[in-house]
Amino acid sequence: MRDRLEILRSLLTPDGSLWITIDDNEAHYLKVLCDEVFGRANFVANVIWQKKSSPSNDAKWISDNHDHILVYAKNKEFWRPTKLERTDEQNRIYRHSDEYDGVGEDGKIYGRGPWFPGDMTVKTISENALYEIITPSGRVVKPTDGRAWVYSKGKFDELLKDKRITFGKNKDNKPCIKRFLTEVENSKIVPKSVWLYEEVGENRNARQEVKKFNSINPFGTPKPERLLQRIIHLATQPGDIVLDSFAGSGTTGAVAHKMNRRWVMIELGEHCHTHIIPRLKKVIDGTDEGGISKAVNWQGGGGFRYYRLAPSLLERDKWGNWIINKSYNAAMLAEAVCKHEGFTYAPSETLYWQQGHSSERDFIYVTTQTLNREQLAALAEEVGDDRSLLVCCSAFKAQPDAFPNLTLKKIPNTVLHRCEWGRDDYSLQIANLPLAPVVEETAQAPRASSATKLKRAKEMSMPLFEQGDERE
Ligand SMILES: C[S@@+](CC[C@H](N)C(=O)[O-])C[C@H]1O[C@@H](n2cnc3c(N)ncnc32)[C@H](O)[C@@H]1O
Repeated sequence: MRDRLEILRSLLTPDGSLWITIDDNEAHYLKVLCDEVFGRANFVANVIWQKKSSPSNDAKWISDNHDHILVYAKNKEFWRPTKLERTDEQNRIYRHSDEYDGVGEDGKIYGRGPWFPGDMTVKTISENALYEIITPSGRVVKPTDGRAWVYSKGKFDELLKDKRITFGKNKDNKPCIKRFLTEVENSKIVPKSVWLYEEVGENRNARQEVKKFNSINPFGTPKPERLLQRIIHLATQPGDIVLDSFAGSGTTGAVAHKMNRRWVMIELGEHCHTHIIPRLKKVIDGTDEGGISKAVNWQGGGGFRYYRLAPSLLERDKWGNWIINKSYNAAMLAEAVCKHEGFTYAPSETLYWQQGHSSERDFIYVTTQTLNREQLAALAEEVGDDRSLLVCCSAFKAQPDAFPNLTLKKIPNTVLHRCEWGRDDYSLQIANLPLAPVVEETAQAPRASSATKLKRAKEMSMPLFEQGDERE
């Protein structure tokens, strides 16, 4: 986990945060590891989520009803949670009116507190807060032993005059401050560190949600949408990017999407096809009416792109040197070279030398062959005057500047020898995916030529290839 945590930390924005749900077996080891990676100063909270409301009566020791949510900020000084909206439940404690105790006639609704049950005292003792108070019924009351009133005598008299103090219906209770609903109803709530299933759902609800798009395998430990809704609300704003690097059933992306956040999900297993893609398709076409859809009035919209990741082109050998990954074949190398040189890999079905492009008229050709002068001349003629081509080959037998429309580049032997050679197979279109609309180039903007691209790629990338003047 350490490597992963370090990468995740490096991906966070300065005001970003990481939220990890984890069970009781591993939570405490993970906490120590996270402390090391993030620094203890950036630990925000260990939220307890009630993942199961009913006890497991078959538990041998203690029924496991909660998970932990470890929360770390990239930098706690910058990070603040977005407070929660008040719920009707929270407003319900504001149920008294001034008529209730006959103090004041304006009918404003208030609650008692914040002290419970109406004991307006604190443990911190100051001498001017140990005075006696006479209730309207005539009873003398004092703070209980070891405590003092929360207000000085002067402040208390002021509040009493302002009708901010109640002594209950019988006017005989200990005093209590009134908090008016009109003062708090627009205020937001600081999140607590215990999240009950009534507020954010439990595993059981989540399984029902997952069954809507995969009835066969509702997943082992799915998270309810309301849980992710709370996390995403606390941690992000609309438009922010939410990453779930262990996507599972795809709840994070589904909820992020419905909350107008951008999202990235990564999944190693087949759940990508059995759960995540079907789920997100339903979210996008508006047919997912489960989870938080109704609460956020989700109507559908948006889209996503799906990529299958190739293994890394480069890996380190046992001496720590960069070498080509042994699992690469020629077609994969062609794709990797395109990426490396700043081209889009898109092998043409008709023209063998068009394996990728950087613009409408600038192409790339990757081959394991050695190209002689005649072959290059034929290629140059086919490319023509109004197109340009970057040729990456194992060797070439011509002056590198012999053909104005060709840029020649040699793939080093170290690369060649580590790949599976002897065939050029252009049919494996592993990246032939729909692309986002391309922004039109303006008439004034000069198109990048192969040479410009080459220079740019060389400046930006690792020295995978030598310059084109190294001939065999
Ligand atoms: C517990 S599930 C995640 C559940 C999901 N994040 C949620 O909160 O509902 C963990 C998932 O991580 C996936 N996984 C494990 N190792 C992975 C890796 N190295 N890269 C990507 N996914 C991985 C597993 O296949 C599994 O689906």
